[in-house]
Amino acid sequence: MTLLNRRQWLRSAGIATGAMTLLNHNLFSLNNIKPYDDQAGDFVFAENGIIRLSSNENPYGPSPFVREKMIAAFDKACRYPGADIDSLTKKIAQKEGLTTEHILVTVGSTEGLKIAALAYLHNGGELVAPEPTFEAMLNYAEACGAYVHRVPVNLDLGINLEAMEKRCNADTKMVFICNPNNPTGTILPADEMSHFCTKIAQRTMVFSDEAYFDYINEKNYPSMTSLIKNDLNVIVSRTFSKVYGIAGLRIGYLIARPDIIKRLEIFQVDNPNMLALAAAHAAMDENEFYNFSIQKNNESKKMVTSTLDQFNLVYTQSHANFVFFRSGIDISEFGKKMLQHNIKVGRPFRPLLNWCRISTGKTEEMQSVVSALKKIYA
Ligand SMILES: Cc1ncc(COP(=O)(O)O)c(C=O)c1O
Repeated sequence: MTLLNRRQWLRSAGIATGAMTLLNHNLFSLNNIKPYDDQAGDFVFAENGIIRLSSNENPYGPSPFVREKMIAAFDKACRYPGADIDSLTKKIAQKEGLTTEHILVTVGSTEGLKIAALAYLHNGGELVAPEPTFEAMLNYAEACGAYVHRVPVNLDLGINLEAMEKRCNADTKMVFICNPNNPTGTILPADEMSHFCTKIAQRTMVFSDEAYFDYINEKNYPSMTSLIKNDLNVIVSRTFSKVYGIAGLRIGYLIARPDIIKRLEIFQVDNPNMLALAAAHAAMDENEFYNFSIQKNNESKKMVTSTLDQFNLVYTQSHANFVFFRSGIDISEFGKKMLQHNIKVGRPFRPLLNWCRISTGKTEEMQSVVSALKKIYA
């Protein structure tokens, strides 16, 4: 652990307190907590022949229609993509019911998360975020010299908005909410989420990561773009990596008030490439694959949760393309056990080290998961 990390670790006293409460409820094991930097070591990308259920991808993509459109775009690869960015921006703006000035197309939503950290935290300041959550913005903010408050999730693994609000102070430059949250898969009650974002946006910038929004199993669940329509200090991120199945092409977008988009745009390193733009364009035209992806994801999740039920293993209700369950075995051990069955699961998510995140795959891949779980727990 570097000196800086150690200091930050100690400053995050709330983590230890929250974690002890979790321990008292006997849901989690806090053994072998390692600093952030050490966690990914054993969890490198999967070798060939291994079923990769570690990165929340959608293995059904790209759809045949999207592939066709990408091939057709080869001819345009000798051109810079400005006009194609403009036309995708227009299409996204229409979908979101906003103007093109409200949209910034990015290289994956990860670029959006990072430029938001750069734009608002490059001079220091503080970021408030849940723990565990998707770390891209948090790590980048730290690299920019900001301090990150990691606020432990509740006992039910839902984001603790009250505790997050308490961590906000005059130095808070951004509050990050991932909803549905990765890795827990949980969503916040709609009214609580809207109320929190509206309130916090009076004080600072709110970032709502909606990478898994399309998978939410609750009717009429609101996107925080509704607050952008009221000109609030809110940034929303979306991606083509999940339900549209084009993670490898790296394309996503941010939605925010035009003055905020202008500020974010300055920090972009470059633009998405021509093939990614063609793919995203095509993906938005195709309802069939979109619906198929959601249906397959629900079926895959059901296969996992039915097996977990057989062994009385606890899991959260997932509104994403993965299942988060208490394996009861330290994740570094459990990960190895699954690898013996040629399955790669998600990395450790502290402090929930005896929990496992497993992404959904194709039906036959999920059959392998079911049989591996049966062998491990029988
Ligand atoms: C919550 C969350 N946000 C953003 C991303 C990054 O997605 P992208 O591929 O758009 O960079 C991920 C990827 O898994 C994620 O889980």
